[in-house]
Amino acid sequence: MTVEKKEIDWGNLGFDYIKTDFRYVARFKDGKWDDGELVEDNHISIHESSTCLHYGQQCFEGLKAYTTPEGRIVLFRPDQNAKRLNRSARRLVMAEVPEDMFIDAVEKTVRANLAWVPPYGSGASLYIRPYLIGVGENIAVKPAPEYIFSIFVMPVGPYFKGGMTPINFMICEEYDRAAPMGTGSYKVGGNYAASLEPNAKAKASGFADMLYLDAKTHSCIDEVGAANFFGITPDHQFVTPKSPSVLPSITKYSLIHIAENMLGMTVQERDIPVASLDQFVEAGACGTAAVISPIGGISYQGKLLTFNGDGKEVGPVITKLYEILTGIQVGEIEAPEGWIHEVC
Ligand code: PLP
Ligand code: COI
Repeated sequence: MTVEKKEIDWGNLGFDYIKTDFRYVARFKDGKWDDGELVEDNHISIHESSTCLHYGQQCFEGLKAYTTPEGRIVLFRPDQNAKRLNRSARRLVMAEVPEDMFIDAVEKTVRANLAWVPPYGSGASLYIRPYLIGVGENIAVKPAPEYIFSIFVMPVGPYFKGGMTPINFMICEEYDRAAPMGTGSYKVGGNYAASLEPNAKAKASGFADMLYLDAKTHSCIDEVGAANFFGITPDHQFVTPKSPSVLPSITKYSLIHIAENMLGMTVQERDIPVASLDQFVEAGACGTAAVISPIGGISYQGKLLTFNGDGKEVGPVITKLYEILTGIQVGEIEAPEGWIHEVC
C-alpha cells in the first residue's frame, strides 16, 4: 500500500508538537478497559477533580516508528515501553495496560497516521507518546476511580538542537531531580515538572540542560532531564551510572548490548563520581527523543570539562554507537532478536 505523505520538510524537523490525523483513546471504568478507539479530536475532557490534575497520577512513554529502506514501518522495542509503562503504573497505583493492548494500540495509531511517518533517509522518525492518566471524581489523596490511556504521534527530528552535534551540559548543584526511593526511575510527570526550573536556568546560562547529581550524596552523576548519561574511557569501556533514581533507558540498555556484543567493549554500570568525569574521552546523553547526543563539555563549579579534545567534534566510539543504533532502528543493520516490531 502506498500512502501519500504529508508535505513536510522532513530534514528540518525539531522536537515540536504537530497535530496528526488520529489519536488512540481507551477508558478504564468499573475494573475493565473498553475496546479503545481512534479519534480526531486532540483535546480531552475530564472531571475537574481528576487525580492527574491535582496529585500527578500520570505516567507516559516515548517510542518511535521508522521507515526501512524497503518502505516497511517498524517500531523499536515497543514491548519494553509497555513493560515500563506498567512499572510506572504500579508505582502510582494506576490501572495497568495489558502488553498486547499497548502494542495493538501503538500499531493502530501508527497505521492511522501513515502519511506522517517520515520517509526512509530523512533522518526523522515518528515519535509516539502513550500516556496514562487518573480521571474521574475524587478529591482525597487516593488512586483515581477511572483511567484514560491515550496515544498521539508526531514526526520529529532531534530533541537536542543539532542532533549529532556536541552540546554542553551544566552540573546541577542547586536542585535534585529525584530522590533514590522516590519516583526518579519511573516515567512520571512529576519528575519532569521538577526539572523545569533547573532546565530554564541551564538554558539561560547557555547550556542544553542540567546534568543531575545523585540526591543522596551530591557526589555522583545521575542523568540529564530527558536522557541517560554514559562515558567512554580511553581503554574502550562504556560506563554509565548505576543509580536508583535514573530512568532505566531502553536506548541505554540497547547501547550496552551493542557495545558489548557488537563492538567488543566492556560495560560498567557503577557510580560515577563527579570528580572523576575526566576519566572519559567521550561522553553522551541517550534516549528515545535524544537518540545519542554527544556531550562536548560539562560545566562544574565554574569550569568546563571538555570531551574528545576541545568538545567540538563527535568522538569515534560515539559515532560508531550512533551508526549501529540508528542502522538497527531503520532496518539497515540486522537487529538482535525481538528488537524490531513490524507495523506494516
Ligand atoms: N531519562 C529520562 C529522564 C527520560 O525522560 C528519558 C526518555 O525517555 C530517558 C532517560 C531515555 O529513556 P529511553 O531510552 O527509554 O527513551
Ligand atoms: C523520550 O525520549 O521519549 C522522552 O520522553 C524524553 C522527553 C521528551 C521527556
